[in-house]
Order: sequence, then C-alpha cells, then structure tokens
Amino acid sequence: MCGIVGYIGSHQAAPILVNGIKRLEYRGYDSVGVAVVNGEIEIKKEVGMIDKVNAVHCLDKMEGTRGIAHTRWATHGEPSKRNAHPHMDCTGDVAIVHNGIIENYVSIRKMLQEEGHAMASDTDSEVIAHLIEKFYEGNLETAVRKALLQIQGTYGLAAVHKRENKIVVARNGSPIVIGVKENGTFAASDASAILEHTKKMIYLDDREIGVIGPGAVVVKNLEDKKIDKGTQEIEWDLAQIEKGEFKHFMLKEIFEQPESLKNTMRGRLGNEIKLSINSRIEDSERLILVAGGTSWHAALIGRYLLEEIAKIPTEVDYSSEFRYRNPLIREKDLVVVISQSGETADTLAALREAKKRGAKTLGIINVVGSTIAREAEMGVYLHAGPEIGVASTKAFTSQVTALCMLAVYLKERKRGETDIKLMRELSTLPEKIDSVLKNKDKIKDIAGSVFKHNNFLYLGRGINFPVALEGALKLKEISYIHAEGYPAAEMKHGPIALIDENMPVVFVANKGKGYEKTLSNMEEVKARHGKIIAIATEGDEDIKRLADWVIHVPETLDILTPVINTIPLQLLAYYIADMKGLDVDKPRNLAKSVTVE
Ligand code: G6P
Repeated sequence: MCGIVGYIGSHQAAPILVNGIKRLEYRGYDSVGVAVVNGEIEIKKEVGMIDKVNAVHCLDKMEGTRGIAHTRWATHGEPSKRNAHPHMDCTGDVAIVHNGIIENYVSIRKMLQEEGHAMASDTDSEVIAHLIEKFYEGNLETAVRKALLQIQGTYGLAAVHKRENKIVVARNGSPIVIGVKENGTFAASDASAILEHTKKMIYLDDREIGVIGPGAVVVKNLEDKKIDKGTQEIEWDLAQIEKGEFKHFMLKEIFEQPESLKNTMRGRLGNEIKLSINSRIEDSERLILVAGGTSWHAALIGRYLLEEIAKIPTEVDYSSEFRYRNPLIREKDLVVVISQSGETADTLAALREAKKRGAKTLGIINVVGSTIAREAEMGVYLHAGPEIGVASTKAFTSQVTALCMLAVYLKERKRGETDIKLMRELSTLPEKIDSVLKNKDKIKDIAGSVFKHNNFLYLGRGINFPVALEGALKLKEISYIHAEGYPAAEMKHGPIALIDENMPVVFVANKGKGYEKTLSNMEEVKARHGKIIAIATEGDEDIKRLADWVIHVPETLDILTPVINTIPLQLLAYYIADMKGLDVDKPRNLAKSVTVE
C-alpha cells in the first residue's frame, strides 16, 4: 500500500527519494509524488508508475537537499493528480505525505473550510497540511503535534516546512522507520526503501514523533516527552531486495525456498526443538490461529499440524472476522497471529483484541521489528528474508514449517515426547524442494497448455485442502483467472456442475491418507471431460491413466506434504501469469502489506 520516503542531508534529495519509492513499488500504488525544498517547496505528482511519471516530469532532477516522496494506493478519492501526495497547506509553506486513514476528516475538513482553508483534493490526508498551517507559530514540530492531537485514525506521516531545515515524521498504526548515517538522515514507511544507504534504523512506535535534521534525530511522544530509542541494525542486505538474474521477484522467491526454509529451521532442530518462547505457553489448552490471505492458509495447515502432533484443540479465524465477532477467550487460550509483513491492519487489530481479552499471544512473523512482532508477547521469526513479490510464496512455506516446529515443541513440553522422526524429515525438505524446482520446465509446458482457460478448480483432501486453496489464490492473484479451491470430497456438492472440457482441475493427489478417494474424484472429473493436472508422489505412474498432466514430487510424511506440494502450484501460477504478459510482482489492485482495515 502507500509508501513514504524522506531525506535530509548533504546530497541532492530527489534521486534518493525516487530510488526509495521505487524500492516500495512492490507494495502496490496508483500514483506518485515528490516534494523538495529549495527555498520554496516544489511539488511534482501524477497518476501512474514511477518510471513513466519520472520520464515525463523528471522527478529525480528536482533540486534541494531535503524532501519527501510518496506512492499512493487510493482509499479516499479516486487515483488522480489532485489526490496524489504530497499535499500542501493554503500558503505553500507546508507539505505532507501520509499513509493511513483519518477517520474524523469530514468534520475537520468542514471546520477548516469554515475557517477559510481551501481544499485542493478529495483526500482525508490533506486536512493534516491545513491543520499544521493553522497551528504553526514558527515551530513545525509543535504544529504537527497539535495537528495530530486533533485527528482520530491511523497515520505514518512526514512533513516539511519551507523555512525549517528538518523533516517531522510521526506514527500511529502505520509504520515509520528512521535511517541514520553520518551525512544524512532518512525516513521511510518500510526499511527496504533506505536499506542501501544505511542499516542503522530507529523504529517509531505509535503516538511518537521524530524530528530529523541532517545528522540528528530526536524522538518524543505526543505529550512532548523525549524518548531514548536507540538504533537497531537491520539484518537484510541489498542483494536480497534485488531481482538478480530472475525475471521477477516472485520467481526468485520461489527458487529461494530451499534456503529460506533452512533459515527458518536453523538452530532450532536437534534432540529437541529450540524456540525462544516463554514457558507460559505450556499451559495452553486451546490455540486460536488468526491471519489473513496466504497466511490464513498457513494457519489452516497449522490446525492440522497442531491437532495431529501436539493434540491441542485448535481453531482458525480470519483476523478481520476474529476482531469483530466478540470471540470468547479463556485464560488458557493462546492466540497465534501469523503475518509475513507483521503490519496487516486486521491482524494487528486481532492481536490487540486478543491481548485485551486476556489471551497469551504469540506472533509468527517474517519482518523483524514490525509492529505485530513487537506487540506480541512471544514470537517465532521466520527468517525467510525479504519478500518483495506481492503474492506470498517463500513466507508461506516458512510459516507452515514454523507451525510444524511449534507443534513439535508443544508435544515435547506438554506430553514429554520428542518427535525425532519428524524433525529429521523436516530437515530434508529443502533438498526435496530443490528437486521439485528442477522440474520447472515441465511445469512451464503445462502452463503453456492451459493458460488460455478462464476457470480453474483446485482440489485436495485433509491437510492438502488448504494447499488447494493456496494454489487457487496464487493463480487468481497474479493471472486474474477465476480459480476456486475445494476439499476434493465437496466437489460433488456443487463445483462438479461446472466441469467440462474447458475446466482444468488441479488435484493434489499424493499417495497416503485419502489417496484412493481422490482417484475416484479424478474419475468423476474425467467422465465429464475435465482436464486434470495432478500433483503426485514420485513413482506413481498409475495416475497417468486419469491425469492429462502429472507433476511428480518427492515422498515425505503425510503431514509435511503441503510444503512440497505448494511449490509446483506456485510455479504453475507464475508461468501462467507470465505467459499472459502480466505484471507478476505487482498485480492490479493488490498490495503487499494491507494497512487499511
Ligand atoms: C496481502 C498480500 C498477501 C498476504 C496478505 C496477508 O493481501 O497480497 O500476499 O498473504 O496480505 O499479509 P501478511 O503480511 O499479514 O501475511
């Protein structure tokens, strides 16, 4: 979603700002804008992709050593030049960029208009610039503080005033990070925007304001009390946020999975599972897993794993539903929030709701230092490395692996039983994924045969039913083809009516529990001339009798098959979208980190 970058220092700001917002492109946006201060504030903004807007308006040639930039993902007001950020006050002395939503903007806007302020956009954000103007008495920091005290809602904010050599940033519910270096200071909504300049970061917490000068940072809370934040060193490096030899980030991230999975397991497997979580977790009598999107699919697999391995009753909910349905929380409940970004607004709200209701909370998160990671009482980091492609891939397989380790951990702690066999098998998964990836050309061929179809059905049983959901979601997200995932046995209750020669059906059909029944479902599809793509266990040649295309995957324990089966489904979706010539890494209308509710 929206992205913010700021810079103040001894270099020209514009190239740093444009490069920074380009690093945030993956989050999804519809318009772009830059403000640079050079005596006066100069603003250039437009609807469209950064490269195209830059080619016409030369954003990166604007002159000045401090400035702010923004990529907008429309919420209030259509994507248009007038609604793009930065926004100014009436005098042209103040410019702001804002992520989040100002909930009481209608009443503030009315009040400001009655006081004579002229609004130039339909956005909620613009009121902040005018509030700063209203409260400005020679100190931008004070005016920003007074403005923020008027607003309800969420903000990640950066503001400049033409006469003050500083940038004022603030955060409430929408991340802001400050990057420090000797000859310049940076601000961004996501560390990856400024990572190439510095790895030393200060993460703002909610209701905090940062005043950044060319070489100094002061952080205070909204009550004007100074806070000693300290810097944190970020562990990712530049190569990890670049595509390298791959055509798309998504493809790179699919191919990184042997490594990302090793990193998720590193130092955690042995004679027992080592997770740095609090022993209070051992009293948990019920687990509630909450997440959204792909992370919700990982949670569904997690339920199977936790009930099967740890024998603890487990429920799964969408974050967005959990927080609004008045959930009954008991003292011995553990709420596990799962999120790649650690910033998804619904999941964060679900975490806060769970804490308010007295549950213990644990986060399974990829982005170190993210809000959910910091607010959950306990946590398991995925260490999968930065995920740039909007459609989640490597984070998903790491989430499933982390949930599996959590299940083994709870089995050890609650029942005193160590699952050496499972741990050994877990450690073979990277190698097995590698062998699936070697099959990429075959999967590409299959994609070539089916990419013109408009509807797909994905079917799986038991622990592979969520894999079917995830396969269908991947295809939908990046290829814009309608796809549905179902438990294979449910096909007869509806989807079977859709099957004809134009409907490819993807079966997750490993040997093991439910295999024979899945074959019967394949017969039913075949009888109706549906086209079948089967994910099958290596050595299963019989399945060719029913399937038009077979993708073989290595054998593993039934409960670990989801990790392996997901890989060919990711590749299939990728190649189909690429053959359709679509922008795989930045699918239309989607955002990487959904910070609105
Ligand atoms: C967005 C992304 C999905 C992701 C979901 C949840 O919709 O496009 O890929 O699965 O958010 O994100 P999270 O960061 O909480 O896992």
